Amino acid sequence: MRHLLSTADLSKDEAVGLLDTAAQMAATQSREIKKLPTLRGRTVVNLFFEDSTRTRISFETAAKRLSADVINFSAKGSSVSKGESLKDTALTLHAMGADAVVVRHWASGAPYQLAHAGWLDAAVLNAGDGTHMHPTQALLDAYTMRRHLAGRAGGLAAPADDGVGADLAGLRIAIVGDVLHSRVARANVALLHTLGAEVTLVAPPTLVPVGVEAWPCRTSYDLDATLADWRPDAVMMLRVQRERMSGGAGAFFPSPLEYTRYYGLDARRLAQLADHAIVMHPGPMNRGLEISAEAADSDKAVIVEQVANGIAVRMAALYLLMAGDRSAEGNDL
Ligand code: CP
Repeated sequence: MRHLLSTADLSKDEAVGLLDTAAQMAATQSREIKKLPTLRGRTVVNLFFEDSTRTRISFETAAKRLSADVINFSAKGSSVSKGESLKDTALTLHAMGADAVVVRHWASGAPYQLAHAGWLDAAVLNAGDGTHMHPTQALLDAYTMRRHLAGRAGGLAAPADDGVGADLAGLRIAIVGDVLHSRVARANVALLHTLGAEVTLVAPPTLVPVGVEAWPCRTSYDLDATLADWRPDAVMMLRVQRERMSGGAGAFFPSPLEYTRYYGLDARRLAQLADHAIVMHPGPMNRGLEISAEAADSDKAVIVEQVANGIAVRMAALYLLMAGDRSAEGNDL
């Protein structure tokens, strides 16, 4: 692997390898000294053209735990606001000796452009591009499912104590809400399919993308029926992305109250879930819209754990992209 741009590019072996490496990274994080020397002398640039809390901070933490030098670049307050192009920004990062660039961009495809235009000689990690992809989010979601659910579905190998060694075959995952604008949904559908899980997307018709029939998943407009009849092992609630809704949210659903009534996860729906089922959300949450406070703070919710797992997953991604070629130099964990 040279870059991490899309979960659709990952083979099953590559995806499982990333999750296994993340488990190894997580094990190192319970040591008294959390910092590893693995990427000493390497430079990671966090290049964020869109707002972020979780992804930016956890990539920074991951890179620092691997001893890389980290440069944080936010489009706000940079020469991008004076009209500098992506190409000239990339050439500047190249001149500064970036070994890896973590990029979040409002334009779908911007990380591909950075990886393949020849402006940079660095590994490119997609930290979310437009409505297209968010591969490390899907990997941390799969890692979290594996920790909680591996061994639950029929045909799964029994997991080791830490869940390592089992894939997600046969698990049922419901992804609910604003699928249309969600790079998290696209990244998860591709990765979960590769790992053998079954996915049902649940959304109002106005928030289902054109062409969804070609995706490797089922689609439903009925959340209650999906919970009652399909019995998912995990329910992943998606944020209603009002900032991407041209014409405002009113162009997609009649009112927040109606959206919540039909597609929100509340205490009543929470009570319908199987005992072992987990509730996920990539964050940031619209509490009271797609998820109630009772659901977000319930024992079934693994939302804070998803954030914590993001550090180990991003350490794994940086390690495999940046140190994989130096394994002969003794980069043992
Ligand atoms: N899940 C996620 O991408 O969150 P941030 O926008 O805070 O990075």
